[in-house]
Amino acid sequence: MKVKTLAKRKWKKRRTNRGDSLKVGPEKLIMIGFLLVGAAIYFNWDSSKTSQPIADDETLRLGEAVFQQNCAVCHGENGEGHAALAQAPALNESEHAWHHPDGQLQEIIQNGGVEMPSFEETLENDEIKAVIRYFQTFWRPDQLQVQQANSTQYPFR
Ligand code: HEC
Repeated sequence: MKVKTLAKRKWKKRRTNRGDSLKVGPEKLIMIGFLLVGAAIYFNWDSSKTSQPIADDETLRLGEAVFQQNCAVCHGENGEGHAALAQAPALNESEHAWHHPDGQLQEIIQNGGVEMPSFEETLENDEIKAVIRYFQTFWRPDQLQVQQANSTQYPFR
C-alpha cells in the first residue's frame, strides 16, 4: 500500500511538472497495448489467409508453370485479376472464383468464356487440374473447405 501511494504521488508530481503533451500515462500505455494486440491479430490472420495445398508438390509446380505461362497475363501473377484484360476476374480469395466447384472450374478453363480463350486444345486435362490446385492455394482455408465440400457433387472429370 505504501508503495502504491508513493508511486501515485510521484505520478501526480510529474503530471503537474510536465506539459500535457509529454506525459506517457497509463491511458497511452493501454492504447499502445491495444495497438500491439490489434497488429498481432491482424498479421496472424493475414498469414493464415492462404490455404494448405490439396495436391502434391509436383502437381503444384506444374500448376504454377501453367498459370504463369497461360493465365497470369490476364488474371495477374498472384491471381489478383484485372491485369492485361480489365474484365479478367481475380482467381484469388477476393472475388467469385472459389464459389465454383472443381468440375465447373475445369469446364470454364476448357471452354473459355466471352473474353477468355478456350484451353481445351492447348492444355492437357492434367495441366488444367494442376492449375486449379495451384490457384486454390490463394484462397482462404474456410473458402477452400466450402468449395471442396461442394465439389463432391461436381468433381473433376
Ligand atoms: C485473355 C485473357 C485471359 C486469359 C489468358 C485467361 N483468362 Fe480466365 N477469364 C478471363 C475473363 C475476361 C474472364 C471472365 C469471363 C469472360 O469474359 O470470358 C475469365 C474467367 C475465368 C474464370 C472464372 C472466374 C469466376 O470468378 O467466375 C476462371 C476460373 C478462369 N478465368 C481461369 C483461367 C485460367 C486457369 C487461365 C489460364 C489457363 C485463364 N483463365 C486464362 C480472361 C482470361
